[in-house]
Amino acid sequence: MTTLSAEHEIVGTAPFRFRRMIDRETIADNMRRLAVQLRMEYQDKNPILIGVLNGCFIFMADLIREMAVECEVDFIKLSSYRENMQSGDIELRKDVDADLRNRHVLLVEDIVDTGNSLAFLRRHLNSKGAASFAIASMFVKPNAVRPGTVIEYVGMEIPNDFVVGYGLDYAQQWRQLPDLHVLMKDE
Ligand code: IMP
Ligand code: MG
Repeated sequence: MTTLSAEHEIVGTAPFRFRRMIDRETIADNMRRLAVQLRMEYQDKNPILIGVLNGCFIFMADLIREMAVECEVDFIKLSSYRENMQSGDIELRKDVDADLRNRHVLLVEDIVDTGNSLAFLRRHLNSKGAASFAIASMFVKPNAVRPGTVIEYVGMEIPNDFVVGYGLDYAQQWRQLPDLHVLMKDE
C-alpha cells in the first residue's frame, strides 16, 4: 500500500504520474472570490445548490461555507461517463430530490472540460420550472469547451490537460489531494 503525504509534489506510478500544478492557497483565493460574487447574487434568494457527484464534494463544501448564504443543498449524479479519461454516453444515475419549481438553482461542478455533461444537465434541469438557473465551476478548460457553452461563474481557467486533486479523480483515485495535480506527459 502506498502511503501518501499531502506534501508530495509528484504522485502515482508511470505512465500515470501527476505533478502539482496549482497549490491549495491559489485554489482557495479563487474559490473565495467566486463565493463573494455568488453571495452578492444569491443572498436574498435562498438558492438551491445542486452538486454534481462525485467530483463536486470538496469544492461545494468550501464554497457553501464561504458564501455564507441561506440555501438548500441537493445532488445529482451522471453515469460514469468518464471511466478513467475516456468520455462516452451520458446518462442520469441519480436525479435531484428537491422540487425546483420557482427556485433559484445554482449547479456546482468541479470542472468543465468539453461541456457535454453541462449541456446534458442544463437540458435536464431546465424542464423542472426553476426561477433561475446558473452554473459555477471551480475549473474550466477553455481550450476544450465546445462553442456555445455558458458557464456563469468560473473559479479558474486551466490548460487542456488531465488533472486530479481537490475532488477530481483518475479512476476514482487522488480526490483527496489538497492541490491540483496534472498528468505528466512523455513518460
Ligand atoms: P465534460 O462533459 O467533458 O465537460 O466533462 C465533465 C466531467 O468529466 C467533469 O465533471 C469531471 O467529472 C470529468 N473531468 C473532466 N476533465 C477532467 C480532468 O481533467 N480530471 C478529472 N476529471 C475530469
Ligand atoms: Mg464531475
